[in-house]
Amino acid sequence: MELLKGEKEAILKHTKEIFQEFEAKRENLIPILQEVQKRLGYLPRLAMQKIAEFLGIPPVDVFALATFYNQFRLNPPGKNEIKVCMGTACYMVGGKIALESFERRLNIKEGQTTPDREYSLERVACVGCCTLAPVVVVNEQIEGKVSPTRVDGIILSLQGEKSKEGEEANEDTKEKLKGEKQ
Ligand code: FES
Repeated sequence: MELLKGEKEAILKHTKEIFQEFEAKRENLIPILQEVQKRLGYLPRLAMQKIAEFLGIPPVDVFALATFYNQFRLNPPGKNEIKVCMGTACYMVGGKIALESFERRLNIKEGQTTPDREYSLERVACVGCCTLAPVVVVNEQIEGKVSPTRVDGIILSLQGEKSKEGEEANEDTKEKLKGEKQ
């Protein structure tokens, strides 16, 4: 995933600060990864390379450990986080179909983020609303009985919010320019 403007600098700054808090010992690998993820929201490749350099271990060891534990995320969270429940109740009544519909519509696989970082998609375990199965959590909000048509509706409404934000930003700029002219 390509880094955003200023992200490289942020990664270097945070990793440098974090390294001051830890001894360069291999047993500190997990706590360091946790701290990086806490600060940056995920584990960028560059950060993992820096960690490997700091600990004097091969980068592949860092990547292997980060991929082994599901507490670590290797992709940045999207602006819109979509979590599809794959608990038994949801799975049985179409959770997988909902997940596949999101994958097709967003053109990413579960665990990934769209290149523009607008959407991230992941599977989660039972979220405790089995009567509404299949359940999807969109930006912390529960959506129940999610059919493929509902998937389209969810994405359309998220896209609608985005274009509304864009219009509002344009209005703000217009207002600002108007104010400057007066
Ligand atoms: S299995 Fe999906 S909410 Fe319980």
